[in-house]
Amino acid sequence: MRFLYLALPIFAALGASAKQNPTESGHTFPSSVIEFSGNFQQPQPPLLKTEFQTSFIQHKWNANLSHIQTGYIYFSPSQNLVRVDEAYKGDLATSIFDYTNTTADGLVDNTLTSFGKYPAQQPTVWRGYVQSNYPLFTEDILTAGDAVFGGLVRRTHVEGLVASWNIMYASIPVTVFVDGCGVMVGYDYFSPGLRTRVTTEFFNTVVGPVEV
Ligand SMILES: *[C@@H]1O[C@H](CO)[C@@H](O)[C@H](O)[C@H]1NC(C)=O
Ligand SMILES: *[C@@H]1O[C@H](CO)[C@@H](O)[C@H](O)[C@H]1NC(C)=O
Repeated sequence: MRFLYLALPIFAALGASAKQNPTESGHTFPSSVIEFSGNFQQPQPPLLKTEFQTSFIQHKWNANLSHIQTGYIYFSPSQNLVRVDEAYKGDLATSIFDYTNTTADGLVDNTLTSFGKYPAQQPTVWRGYVQSNYPLFTEDILTAGDAVFGGLVRRTHVEGLVASWNIMYASIPVTVFVDGCGVMVGYDYFSPGLRTRVTTEFFNTVVGPVEV
C-alpha cells in the first residue's frame, strides 16, 4: 500500500508530461495526412530547418559496390559548406563540400582528408569535383520544388512517424523525410545515370548554427 501511494504520483507526472506540447517532439500529424483516410488532403510542404549537425548512417550501392558508412555531419547553408566526418573499415576521413564552387553539371568542390588506418600516418589530402552524396538543401527545397507528399513512414533511427516528400533534385528523384517540426531525418535517392541507390538516416540531430 505504501508503495502504491508513492508510485501513483510518479505515474501521474509521467502522463502529464507526455501530453504536454505534443508537437514539441515533432512526431504528431493531423488525421488529414493519413493515407486512405476520408478527409485526406495533401498537406502544404513544410520549410526545412537546414542549418544543423547530426549523426548519420548511409548505405550506397549499385551493381558493383556496397558502401556503408557512419559518422557526423555539419550542414551550413549560411557558409555554403557541408562537412562529413566518417569512419569506414578502420579509415577515418573528413570531407568538406564547398557549394560556392560547383560546375554547370552539378559537381561540387570536395576536399577529402583521410587519416588512414591506425596507427595514424600522415593524412592524405585529395581535392576535386565530385557528385556529392550530401546535398545542401535550401529551406524552401520542398515548397519551391513542388514536393509531392509520400505519406507518413517510420525510419529505423527515429521514434514515431515522419512525413516523406518526393522531389526532383536536378535530374535525381529524391525522397526527403521530415518530422513534424521541419527537421530532416534523412533522404533516399536513386541516381538514374549511375544506377545507384543511396539511403541516409539522421539521428542525434541538433538544429542551429554550426561551426564547420
Ligand atoms: C559495373 O562494372 C561493369 C564492369 O566494369 C561496368 O561495365 C558497369 O558499367 C558498372 N556498373 C555500374 C553501375 O557502375
Ligand atoms: C574549385 O574547386 C576545384 C575542384 O576541387 C579546385 O581545383 C579549385 O581550386 C576551386 N576553386 C576555388 C576558387 O576555390
